[in-house]
Amino acid sequence: MLTINLKGKKVFIAGIGDDQGFGWAIAKALAEAGATILVGTWTPILKIFTSSLNAGKFDGSRQLSNGKLLEFAKIYPLDASFDKPEDVPEEIRDNKRYKEVEGYTISEVAAAVHRDFGNIDILVHSLANAPEVQNPLLKTSRKGYLAAMSASSYSFVSLLSHFGPYINPEGSALSLTYIASERVIPGYGGGMSSAKAALESDTQTLAWEAGREWQIRVNTISAGPWRSRAARAIGFIDKMIDYSTANAPLTKVLSGEEVGYTAAFLTSPLASAITGTVLYVDNGLHAMGVATDSPTLQP
Ligand SMILES: NC(=O)c1ccc[n+]([C@@H]2O[C@H](COP(=O)([O-])OP(=O)(O)OC[C@H]3O[C@@H](n4cnc5c(N)ncnc54)[C@H](O)[C@@H]3O)[C@@H](O)[C@H]2O)c1
Repeated sequence: MLTINLKGKKVFIAGIGDDQGFGWAIAKALAEAGATILVGTWTPILKIFTSSLNAGKFDGSRQLSNGKLLEFAKIYPLDASFDKPEDVPEEIRDNKRYKEVEGYTISEVAAAVHRDFGNIDILVHSLANAPEVQNPLLKTSRKGYLAAMSASSYSFVSLLSHFGPYINPEGSALSLTYIASERVIPGYGGGMSSAKAALESDTQTLAWEAGREWQIRVNTISAGPWRSRAARAIGFIDKMIDYSTANAPLTKVLSGEEVGYTAAFLTSPLASAITGTVLYVDNGLHAMGVATDSPTLQP
C-alpha cells in the first residue's frame, strides 16, 4: 500500500496561533503521517495560545485518527518580522507582550531549534500580516506596504536562510499563498497581493538556490478561501467562500484537511521531484476565466 510516511521527520511550522488556521491543519496532517511537530507562534499571542492549549480548549481539534492527541514537541515564540535581536525596535522590545519573552527573532529561533532537536527535515511558513490589509493598494502607505512584505514574504526568505543549514538533505520547505498574487481580488489590500506575488516568485529562486546549496525542495500551496482568524480579519472571507462555491469547478467548501494532506504529500519523499512549484488547492477556482453566477451570463 502506498502511504505518506514522515516517521522520524522533524517539522518546524511557523504561524500557529489557534486551531483555526492552515498551520494547525498542516500540523495535524504531518503528525498523522508520523512527524514530530515543533511550532513557532507569534510572540504577542504566545501566552494565550499556550494557556488555551494547556487548558484543553483545543482538545476537540487535537484528536488524531489513532485516538491520540496532536502533540507539539515544543512551542517557540517567533516574530518573523525580525532576523536578529538588534533589529527589534525599542517600542516592540518594551511592549508588555514581548518584554517577558526572549529569543523570538528568526536567527535565535533557528539556533534554539537546532540546539534542542538537532537538524529538522521540513520547514513550513504559514503566516502573513499586513497592518493596512483593509486599505486598497492605492491607499496603502509605504510603511504599511513594506510591513506586509517584511512579515509575509521576506519572513520566508529569512526562515529558509537561517534554517537551511539545519535542514537534512532531501528535506523541504513550504509556504502558503493566495491567488490575489496573480489575479485581482478587490479587498485583499495593504500590499498583501504584492507580498504573495513576491512569495511565489521567491519560491522559484529559492528552489534553485536551496536545491543546489542543501538539496532541499521549496514549494508553495495556493489555497482557496478558508475561514481562519487572519482571513476573518480581512473582513470579506464569507463572500469569498460563497463566490468559490458558486463559481469553482468543485462546489464544496475547502477544508483545512485538504490543504493539510497536500502539505503532507508535498513535504514527503513521494514528491521528491517537485520543487519551485505553486500548487493550487482551491477546488479549481484558479482555472476559471468568468464568474458563472454573474447576472451578465444569465439567459
Ligand atoms: N485563509 C485563507 O483564506 C487563505 C487563503 C490562501 C492562503 N492563506 C495563507 O495561509 C497562511 C496562514 O494563514 P491562515 O489563513 O491559516 O490564518 P492564521 O491566522 O491561522 O495564520 C496566520 C498566522 O500568522 C501569525 N503571524 C502574523 N504575523 C506574524 C509575525 N510577524 N511573526 C510570526 N507569526 C505571525 C499569526 O499569529 C497567525 O498565527 C497565510 O500565509 C495566509 O496568507 C490563507
